Amino acid sequence: MKKLILVAGARPNFMKIAPLMHALKGNKQICPVLVHTGQHYDVKMSGQFFEELNIPQPDINLEVGSASHAVQTARIMEGFENVCINEKPGFVLVVGDVNSTAACTLVAAKLGITTIHYEAGLRSRDRSMPEEINRLVTDAITDVFITTSTDADENLLNEGVSSGKIHMLGNLMIDSLVANLEKAAASPMEFQLLNRLQTITPLLWKKSGRGGFGVMTFHRPSNVDDEISLKKLVKIWGSISGKIPLIFPVHPRTYKNIQNFGLQNEIDRYENLYFIESLGYLQFINLVQNAEFALTDSGGIQEETTYLNIPCLTVRPNTERPITIWEGSNKLITLEEIESEVQLILDGKGKTGKKPVYWDGHTAERIVELIENLEKVKIF
Ligand code: UD1
Repeated sequence: MKKLILVAGARPNFMKIAPLMHALKGNKQICPVLVHTGQHYDVKMSGQFFEELNIPQPDINLEVGSASHAVQTARIMEGFENVCINEKPGFVLVVGDVNSTAACTLVAAKLGITTIHYEAGLRSRDRSMPEEINRLVTDAITDVFITTSTDADENLLNEGVSSGKIHMLGNLMIDSLVANLEKAAASPMEFQLLNRLQTITPLLWKKSGRGGFGVMTFHRPSNVDDEISLKKLVKIWGSISGKIPLIFPVHPRTYKNIQNFGLQNEIDRYENLYFIESLGYLQFINLVQNAEFALTDSGGIQEETTYLNIPCLTVRPNTERPITIWEGSNKLITLEEIESEVQLILDGKGKTGKKPVYWDGHTAERIVELIENLEKVKIF
């Protein structure tokens, strides 16, 4: 049996780990050990995702919690080193680009354990993003590179990775989406909200067959940690909500900053700007499925909207997921362009696209098959 540690740390990791855990169930060749670093720990940010995505309870939880980047990374490394020494895995699989991804790869690589990075090769080429640093560090030392699109393959080849180590197998986040679309559509709480919104914007609802509202998420430090930028955003959200209701499940980082910068009163004044608690997976997907558009700075939502062919406006100067622009329904825009771009969508001129290759709901099966055939690259 091959012992495989799978690492999950923060919210966007959970929908990537879930399909893998399901595909590994009952596997005769691979014995999975699930390690949660505890980077995200709230029920809303973690526990609810495990429950809804039917992920088994982690075998080990490092419970590192929130801290500065250096302290959080150090805590993860310290805890994960003990795990690797005790468990003696043959393989460690990390996903995405969060601090847990880079920290655990560093530990495993130094212990001579074969490391596998799912979502390798994505590059924003913006080193002011902590995620870009995590991607570069992880890909500098990982042994096996699993990618979600061919642009990631090209990035890795340009960085000198040999083609035999790169495996383009599709998108695990889309596996989770495909598996849960029906359940998400039936998620009850949001229907009440959606029904209420349909009475506000009935014309738009009839025209598009969707819900007559926009869904928003913002949590990138560059947008929400800076007071001037967050103040500008609040004004823009308010103005858009005068044309179409906006629903914003608020990330804890953004919520804290809104309070610290004293912006809650202004937000409360906008009648159709709905700030709600950050949602579980099913409710959130329900919102996205029914939205006229997404306005976001997230990575995952660019992919989910591309699969669902819903216009996505990404308020960032760059993206590590350019395939969502070349092939999908995503557009990169500036703060200043938000209002005119939303207007284009309301006028029926939103961007549409197609699904990238292998974004088909079967990526986890392909990854499991790859791992079954993997030889250990290093000696433990
Ligand atoms: C992290 C990831 C980011 C990912 C995002 C998704 C890194 C560098 N960043 O950013 O790539 O897109 O998760 O959410 O790994 N907090 C809670 N409850 C929690 C977790 C965090 O209240 O369960 C609070 C923390 O106290 C902190 C803030 O939220 O002040 C931000 O959390 P943190 O994990 O530092 O980074 P994220 O912005 O969530």
